[in-house]
Amino acid sequence: MAEVAIVADADEAGELVAESIVSLLRSKPDLVLGLATGSTPLSSYRALAHRIRHERIDVRGVRGFALDEYVGLPAGHPQSYRSVISREVVEPLGLTPDLVRVPNGDLRTLRMAGSEYEAAISAAGGVDLQILGIGRSGHIGFNEPGSSLASLTRVKTLTESTRSDNARFFDSLDEVPMHCITQGIGTILRARHLVLLAFGEAKARAIAAAVEGPVSASQPGSAIQLHPHTTVVVDEAAASLLAHADYYRYAWASRAALPIEQAG
Ligand code: F6R
Repeated sequence: MAEVAIVADADEAGELVAESIVSLLRSKPDLVLGLATGSTPLSSYRALAHRIRHERIDVRGVRGFALDEYVGLPAGHPQSYRSVISREVVEPLGLTPDLVRVPNGDLRTLRMAGSEYEAAISAAGGVDLQILGIGRSGHIGFNEPGSSLASLTRVKTLTESTRSDNARFFDSLDEVPMHCITQGIGTILRARHLVLLAFGEAKARAIAAAVEGPVSASQPGSAIQLHPHTTVVVDEAAASLLAHADYYRYAWASRAALPIEQAG
């Protein structure tokens, strides 16, 4: 079972995530972070940037790997995840730009892009902490329903629901690319710690399926159940369909009484 923290709001979630990252950084200054884009992780990046500034934490050695990228957007497009990661993560956190990678969605080099990305993650020694959001479709990364639970970084077709959810970042739905390149579920499961975040009622079904549903490629988020160390951080609305919410609250509140770090 994943550990589930039900928090008041995205800001409290951000502080929890920032604390986990800061404590890892104390023993590993060249930490490897797995970076989600979208709205959900923004409070975590904000809280982390605040801690880094105020505690003068040296993050020059931190490495990062984004989860995914659109295919075919022109270089420098403001909604390419390369641009988003620079704007929302690299710059505010003060990371070293060359140490933060995003899958390459350039059509001309797409054939090799997945295996190159996998090789780069392996060469970095794997991801220490992977931040994840979840789509209404249940996707993690851009692994839409039906994605193999063993999949590695590759090109996928976005569902219509994901395209319409992400149309808010573009001028129109037509501008949202149909394809993406995404870390696979197998890639994500190799990270040493998964932190899945979700806020709001629209995510409640996907969270219930991920945490308590059967493990199935139809619900890619349910793959977290195969990982020995996953922390799910949700607000009350996203937790509203969890059958065992009372137990999660009780277990989270009492974890400080244990002399060891609880996992799984
Ligand atoms: C983004 C990603 C996606 C998003 C998901 C939720 O890199 O991999 O899985 O995490 O679509 O998006 P938001 O956070 O915008 O609701």
